[in-house]
Amino acid sequence: PKIAIVVPAAGVGSRMQLSHPKQYLDIAGKTVLEHTLDKMLHIPAVSMIAVAVSEQDAYFADLNINSRRIIRTPGGQERSDSVLNALNRLVEYAPDWVLVHDAARPLVTASDITQLMTQCIHKGQGGILAAKVKDTIKRGNEYSLGTVPRDELWQALTPQMFPFEALRAALKSALLNNVKITDEASAMEWNNEPVQLIAGRSDNIKITTPEDYALACFLISQQQK
Ligand code: CTP
Ligand code: MG
Repeated sequence: PKIAIVVPAAGVGSRMQLSHPKQYLDIAGKTVLEHTLDKMLHIPAVSMIAVAVSEQDAYFADLNINSRRIIRTPGGQERSDSVLNALNRLVEYAPDWVLVHDAARPLVTASDITQLMTQCIHKGQGGILAAKVKDTIKRGNEYSLGTVPRDELWQALTPQMFPFEALRAALKSALLNNVKITDEASAMEWNNEPVQLIAGRSDNIKITTPEDYALACFLISQQQK
């Protein structure tokens, strides 16, 4: 099958509280986005990689990316808008499947990606990497209103892989209906489409806050050993 990738990289990283977006933080001599794209370029059988980049972005053009498989697409207001823009651009390549992977997750492993792709192609259904919730989960604000049973709870990771046209249609209809979409799977769920949960490594973290960055630096150094 023909496979495309979308890497949403058009966020501002407000929770990192830096002057520049977190996808341009340096880890071991390369930006976070370059680490992520290196991982994506090593996935076999990928035809095109669309990277959603904000039009105001002053950094992307200077990256050391020289693959003709990578195209830049305009970012949108929300992550889901960035992803839908990229999907619309990829229509001309007519992919069968698309994997969407956050620029801010440079730690994903080849073996988790293979696992996800094998399972989705084998079943003919989309799916996401996810990690079982490990902590005891509380609901509430100042005081706990109770403990949420965690046996059915998963943390959604990326990549998330779906049949290309099904995802494009699902995102379009969810956005038209003003549904809050924080990942591709939520758009598919809202459209009553199946989403397989494929157990992935919990160290496939999204760099979101300064604590995550420190952890990501350590984990990359371990991966490079
Ligand atoms: N993203 C995007 N377009 C947006 C918002 C986010 O492409 N309008 C991307 C980010 O660049 C990131 C991924 O989606 O790679 C996950 O989003 P998140 O972790 O929320 O990143 P930011 O939105 O940049 O961070 P914050 O929410 O803290 O501002
Ligand atoms: Mg965000």
